Amino acid sequence: MEPAEKATTTPVPSPDRVEGCPAHVAIIMDGNGRWATQRGRPRLFGHHAGAKRVREIVEACPDFGVKYLTIFAFSTENWKRTQVEVAGLMTLFRRYITKETRHLRERGVRVRFIGDRVRLDEKLIRLMNELEEATAHNTNVHLTIALNYGGRDEVARATQRLAMDVASGRLDPDSVDEETLPRYLDTYVLPDPDLVIRTSGEARISNFLLWQSAYAEYEFIDTLWPDFTRAEFGALCASYGGRDRRFGAVKT
Ligand code: IPE
Ligand code: IPE
Ligand code: MG
Repeated sequence: MEPAEKATTTPVPSPDRVEGCPAHVAIIMDGNGRWATQRGRPRLFGHHAGAKRVREIVEACPDFGVKYLTIFAFSTENWKRTQVEVAGLMTLFRRYITKETRHLRERGVRVRFIGDRVRLDEKLIRLMNELEEATAHNTNVHLTIALNYGGRDEVARATQRLAMDVASGRLDPDSVDEETLPRYLDTYVLPDPDLVIRTSGEARISNFLLWQSAYAEYEFIDTLWPDFTRAEFGALCASYGGRDRRFGAVKT
C-alpha cells in the first residue's frame, strides 16, 4: 500500500482530545428548577432546558476521550415532588427517547438505563427497552441514564438477588467478597466512575452510585445544569488529568 493511501485510513485523533481524560464521567444534573425560577418560569421549563444540554455533552465525549457517561435523570427520592412535576418529567423522558433515538444511533452511542423500572409506566419502559436494543451494537460512547435510580435501592435489590442465589445453592456464602456484590448491581457491565460532577452548587451526592464511586474524584460546581457547556465539561476533564489518585497507597 502506498504511504499516501495509508494516511487516509489512519483514524485522526480529535483536536479536542483531553490529556489524562477520565474514561468514565458520572454527572448529577442539578439546578433545573432554580434555573427556571430565576427566569420566572415553571420548574418544568428548566427540565426541558436541561434535557437539551444532554446532546452537547454526549457529543463532546468521543472528542475529549470520555468512553462512559452516566447521567442522573430521576432519583428514587424524586417521587416526593408534586404530581405535576413528576408527570411532566415522565412525559419529558418519553419525548427525549423518541426524539433522540435516531441521533444517538447515528453517533454510535450505546444507551443503557439503570434504576428500578417497576414504578415506571409501561409506555416509558417499552421506549427504554427499544432504545437499548436499537443502540446495542454501538461502541463509540456508552451513555447510561439513571432513571428511578437510588444507590441504596440498587444495593438492596442486588442483595436480594444475591440472597436468592445463596438460598438456591447457586452461590456459596463463604465466597462472597467485594467482587461478588457488584456483579448484582445495575451497573455490572460498567467500570467504576473516575469523575463525578455535580452542578448547581450543592455538595452532596444524593444517593448516586454509592458503591461505584468509592474512589471517584468529585467536582462540585456552581453552574446550573441548563447552563453547563461543552467548554466547562472539557475543563473539568482536563483538571481531572492533573489529579493524583492514590487509592490508599503511597506513591514511591
Ligand atoms: C435536577 O434539577 C433534575 C431532577 C432532579 C429531575 P432540580 O429539579 O433538582 O433543580 P433544583 O435543584 O430544584 O434547582
Ligand atoms: C439529585 O438531585 C437527583 C437528580 C439530579 C436526578 P436532587 O435535586 O433531587 O437532590 P437533592 O434533593 O438536592 O438532594
Ligand atoms: Mg435539585
